[in-house]
Parts: sequence; structure tokens; C-alpha cells
Amino acid sequence: MQDTKYILEKTEDGSISFINTEFNESYHSIIGAYKEALHKHVLACKIEELTLNRVKDPSNREPIKILDVCFGLGYNSGVAMEKIWEINPDQEIEIIGLESDLGIIQKISELEISENYENVHKILTSLSKDVHKSEQDQEFLEFKDKNINIKVLIDDARNSVKSLAKNYFDAVFFDPFSPKSCPVLWTEEFIKDVVSSAKAGAYISTYSSSRLAKDGFKNAACELFEGPKLNRRNGGVLARKN
Ligand SMILES: C[S@@+](CC[C@H](N)C(=O)[O-])C[C@H]1O[C@@H](n2cnc3c(N)ncnc32)[C@H](O)[C@@H]1O
Repeated sequence: MQDTKYILEKTEDGSISFINTEFNESYHSIIGAYKEALHKHVLACKIEELTLNRVKDPSNREPIKILDVCFGLGYNSGVAMEKIWEINPDQEIEIIGLESDLGIIQKISELEISENYENVHKILTSLSKDVHKSEQDQEFLEFKDKNINIKVLIDDARNSVKSLAKNYFDAVFFDPFSPKSCPVLWTEEFIKDVVSSAKAGAYISTYSSSRLAKDGFKNAACELFEGPKLNRRNGGVLARKN
């Protein structure tokens, strides 16, 4: 049967994304799925600085811990892994992803990828096929290897966010569909739950400059910055937990 929920879309940097016909929205900006992940999330959240700080302080053996809200095709986590390991291939990384739709994660294996992304693409493809069920009957995906531990909780993020540890993550990629098509993930309550899982000083990246995004993160006691503009008039809200 033909899959009509996801329509493949090649973005301007050559990376593959999809359009979701139920939300009537693209998973990424047309300027590039990879480019968006790199600039709006990975560089905005200062992932490279976090890695360099660990290199400068070898007594800090902690993994870099990332929360990927709305994991989708996994580009934000994938580019973070790529950039961290370019600096230090031995750096341990722990990622928790929140995603309600297993179907989009299973599209990862269909992505055409560039050479630099090959290693992380293999990891994400293995992850996408490794479906488990918890004792509470909760579906999740898991991939573990020497320097990487990824777990994606398959559920409405409004539920799964409640199970996360508080003050835990070094960085948060916040990437729901737009406030217009997915308002339930831009409420103050959900944003507060997400922020409570981040460490003080952690950055939380978004692509949205909407009033909902600004008010949500301000009311969750974050300091607000403007993220990279790329092709837009305004950059998205980049929040830092106080
Ligand atoms: C903009 S896309 C994320 C793109 C993704 N970060 C990537 O790199 O491919 C938004 C994602 O939110 C997911 N989503 C929509 N409603 C959700 C919900 N209530 N809970 C969890 N995920 C949800 C969609 O399935 C979609 O994968």
C-alpha cells in the first residue's frame, strides 16, 4: 500500500526531509534539513563549546546529555553526535528523544546521506529498528555502544516529558511542528516541563519566534536570545535556563 502520510522532499542543501500530510507541514525548512539541525539547534545550543570544555577538563568524565524533543528523522541528534566526535571521538553522549510517531523514525533508513554523516546514520538506522516495550507497555527505541546511549520514548511528549529527571540535560533541542499546527507542544505547561529537565545554564533551541514561544520560555524562568536567522527575518527563540 502506498504511504500517503509522508511525502519525500529534497531540501536545498541536498538533505532529505518529508512533508507530513496530516499536519500539512514539512519536517524541516526548505533551506536544508541538515543545515537547520546544524545552525538552529547544534551550534545554537553551543554543543561544540560543551565538548571543548570537557576536553579542557579531563576530570569531567560525564557524558554530554541531550534532550531531543520531537526526534523525527533524528537530524538534530545526528548532527550533534557528528560535531562532538569531530572534536573528541571518545566523548560519551547520552540522548533521550521524545517522539509520538514511530513511522517517521523508520524513514531514517531511506535518507540519502553525505559521507560525513555516514557513521551517525548507521547508528540512527540501527536505533530505528530496535523497538522495545517497557513493563508499563510503553514503546521505546534504544541503541547503546561504547560512546553512545540513545533512547527514544514513543509517546505523546506531554506524557513522556513527565518521566524525565530534573536538572539533567546539558542541552535541549525543542523542535515540534509550528505553534499553528501543533499548539499542544507550545503551551506554558509543556514548556515548563521541558525546561525543568534541563540543567541551569543549559540552552534550549527552537526555530520559532512566535509570541507563544517567547512567553512560554520567559515564564519558565529562561533568559531569551535570538537564534540564527538563516533565511528568515527573525531568528527563533533561543532560551537559557536560569
Ligand atoms: C518538526 S518535526 C521534528 C523534526 C526532527 N527534529 C528531525 O530532525 O527530523 C516535529 C515532530 O513532532 C512529532 N510530534 C507531533 N506531535 C507530537 C506529540 N504530541 N508528541 C511527540 N511528538 C510529536 C512529529 O511526529 C514530528 O516528528
